[in-house]
Amino acid sequence: MPALPGFRDFYPEECARRNYVVSTWRKVATKYGFVEFDGPTLESTDLYRKKNEEGAEILDQLYSFRDRGDREVALRPEMTPTLARMVAARERNYRKPMKWFCVSNFFRHERQQKGRLREFLQFNADIIGDATPQADAETLALAIDLMRAFGFSAEDFVVRLSDRKAWMDFLASQGCDEVQSRLALACADKLEREPAESLNAKLAPTGLTVEALKSFIAAGSPSAFESVLSALAARGLSDFVQPDLSIVRGLAYYTGVVFEVFDRSKNLRALAGGGRYDGLIAGLSDGASDLPAIGFGMGDVVLGHLIDETPAASALLEAATTPACEVYVVIADEARRNEALGIVQAARDLGFATDFSLKPAKVGRQFQDAELLGARQAIVVGQEWPLVKLKNLSTRQEEAIDNSMLARCLKKTEQS
Ligand code: HAM
Repeated sequence: MPALPGFRDFYPEECARRNYVVSTWRKVATKYGFVEFDGPTLESTDLYRKKNEEGAEILDQLYSFRDRGDREVALRPEMTPTLARMVAARERNYRKPMKWFCVSNFFRHERQQKGRLREFLQFNADIIGDATPQADAETLALAIDLMRAFGFSAEDFVVRLSDRKAWMDFLASQGCDEVQSRLALACADKLEREPAESLNAKLAPTGLTVEALKSFIAAGSPSAFESVLSALAARGLSDFVQPDLSIVRGLAYYTGVVFEVFDRSKNLRALAGGGRYDGLIAGLSDGASDLPAIGFGMGDVVLGHLIDETPAASALLEAATTPACEVYVVIADEARRNEALGIVQAARDLGFATDFSLKPAKVGRQFQDAELLGARQAIVVGQEWPLVKLKNLSTRQEEAIDNSMLARCLKKTEQS
């Protein structure tokens, strides 16, 4: 029986990829001074209903059900509401700004298509308690540096930067009330993916048309971007960003700068997306806590596609995921298996990734296995015991040494 549609099995090679992605996310976030947190997989459905209109896409995609205690619960579709709930409860314990990240799995009942699954991994990074463009730029720089750490250059991806506030001001100037504005934003979010005819029908209650939305987008970038762009230019990251008002983001809580990361050739869905959400923490805590925030999420699915399509990124992934065996112990004489096991244990205690054949095998076969596992050194234990042979599998050089000298010789080989 296969996994459910949109869900994945992780065989060892896929697990190795996942571990590589996760460790790269963690490494870069830590370099930026972010600390890791996590929350529960299951939340009360109310957490998602509270700040979303009936019919919002994220509510339609919820895996929600009644649990055995008759509570309405949902598998988390995103981290931001959980983060806002956790921050509101304990923010007094933390210095501001809080720079938090997490790597967790999320669930959305999406229509299946390239880049979209029903369970996916997402990295989130958020800065809470700082409303300045410096925080916006820091968040964008982190998104850019994550992409660079995977081996992508400015030729491979771009961050499209927009401003939800500019959109809200424009919609207000067109006489849209809050409900109409939300509808218009939902349509603007689909401009690149849905035909104009069906969008115009949806826009009817707002009095706007696809044409009107497109001319607002074409009118250019608002001055709100200036300080963010200059803070990115100071870091030498200008090539990676492009102001683009066609980005509005599907989620309702954004209030200011919003952005999405795309592959340059526009073949794929967004790799990451986020923005400023200054009202969510207050909204979810009924005003008990009121902190500005900005952050983004980057998923592993589209990222995986782009890695596969980009030679420099694939090379990094391959180097990081090739098997880690360093030492292979060849048992040339079965009568010496126990001595060989002692050597295996000693090599592992010394910190070397060590492997050997669990059952009797021809010496040639054991050397083949050593090479397949990528081992750089072999220790041959045979009739000459207490002498063993230490063989460098790249240079093919070998030397006979007393097994008691092995610790020193193995270290020597590793360093050379
Ligand atoms: P989002 O745009 O819904 O934002 O998701 C961010 C990224 O997660 C997407 O660009 C995509 O790479 C990945 N993703 C989303 N849904 C799926 C899916 N069904 N299958 C595969 N990948 C997916 C958020 O989730 C916001 N909470 C991000 C945020 C954090 N905003 C502020 N802080």
